[in-house]
Amino acid sequence: MGDPAEIDSDHNWKDQRSTYDALRARCAVAREDDRWVALRHAEVVAAATDAAAFSSNVSARRAIPNSLDGTQHATYRAVVDRYLTDERVAREEPRCRAHAAAIVDALPRGVTVKTIAHIGTPYAVRSQSTWLGWPADLEEELVAWIRDNHAATRSGDRQRTAEVAERFDQMIRALLETRRNTPTTDVTNELLNDTVEGRPLTTEEIVSILRNWTAGDLGSLATSVGVIVHFLATKPDIQREVRALVETGDRTALAAATEEILRIDDPFVSNRRVATRVVNLGGEQIAKGEGLLLNWTAANRDPLVFGDPDRYDPDSNADANLVFGIGPHVCPGRALTLMELRVMLEELMGRTNWIDPAPDRPAIRETPPVGGWARVPIVLR
Ligand code: HEM
Repeated sequence: MGDPAEIDSDHNWKDQRSTYDALRARCAVAREDDRWVALRHAEVVAAATDAAAFSSNVSARRAIPNSLDGTQHATYRAVVDRYLTDERVAREEPRCRAHAAAIVDALPRGVTVKTIAHIGTPYAVRSQSTWLGWPADLEEELVAWIRDNHAATRSGDRQRTAEVAERFDQMIRALLETRRNTPTTDVTNELLNDTVEGRPLTTEEIVSILRNWTAGDLGSLATSVGVIVHFLATKPDIQREVRALVETGDRTALAAATEEILRIDDPFVSNRRVATRVVNLGGEQIAKGEGLLLNWTAANRDPLVFGDPDRYDPDSNADANLVFGIGPHVCPGRALTLMELRVMLEELMGRTNWIDPAPDRPAIRETPPVGGWARVPIVLR
């Protein structure tokens, strides 16, 4: 899929979206090393919604519910869904708002601040810690972990990624141990007492569930803040429009704006599948046992569906938006994420008059395969 190490004339990591755009124009499904990559919207949707042909059981490690298929997936997915209902998400909102307000108020005005390091990451870690009932003093460890996890993903070294994942599991196991001794009333403790198929969840299952709520998604939330703030800082007309939505309190339109910005520049790049039988997809024959990458970022920019992929049009593009996936594994954290991002936008817009890109430092793209931006320096007015 092109050389991920390409850099442009500004010595910036090349925007990987342009590589995907060019490749998708040539083929719906591409071959990359020893696996296939679905790039067009129709093929990504077809594969994601056909779990019988494309299994999510792609790694040696059992991930709940991500790596499960069929009825087993449905059983565990029901457990996860109970924690992420609209009602529960609404209950979290005041706490998220308090974090967002404190973060924005503490930032200096008129000088360069770092969107991801100073806003996105602390907001993601603090919001998730209060949701799960985790102690505030875990923040430093979680921030360091997000950094190391990104670095491991960028390196493409599976051994290193596995080590970082193991470190996370150890952190959670230690936390669960203290919880068993001194029970509290929070989501983590609820999981410790929860059941599946009439028996208590095992420690391994709880660790796996918590890993999938936090490990991948802490980073995604922080990166999403980077993408959204970069978009608004560099597109004054849309920043003005979003500020007007904040002023009128149009929450639905704000959530739609958020999802549309993430469609244009989707930082959650891909998920894996493995073919359970011979399957024809986008004119290619995929053999049983071959791997397939669902490239959400590429599919979300497919001109066959969205026309000009960079045209910001929340209303027209909402129905085909794939930022949170589709099919049985569609993201159960969508409502929580959209609430958290909306609240951050409301506080950021409401507590500033304007956001400019920093004049002294350029924004820098993440290194593929990680999506979005690594650095988004801005100035708050
Ligand atoms: C910007 C933030 C997020 C994005 C872009 C995102 C995106 C996605 C996507 C595309 C999938 C589909 C995966 C697949 O088909 O294999 C997914 C699944 C999942 N997401 Fe999210 N997600 C985000 C935040 C969250 C949050 C905050 C949580 C939990 C609190 C969460 C929990 C999960 C879980 C558990 C799954 C697996 C569901 C299953 O296998 O049934 N996500 N997410």
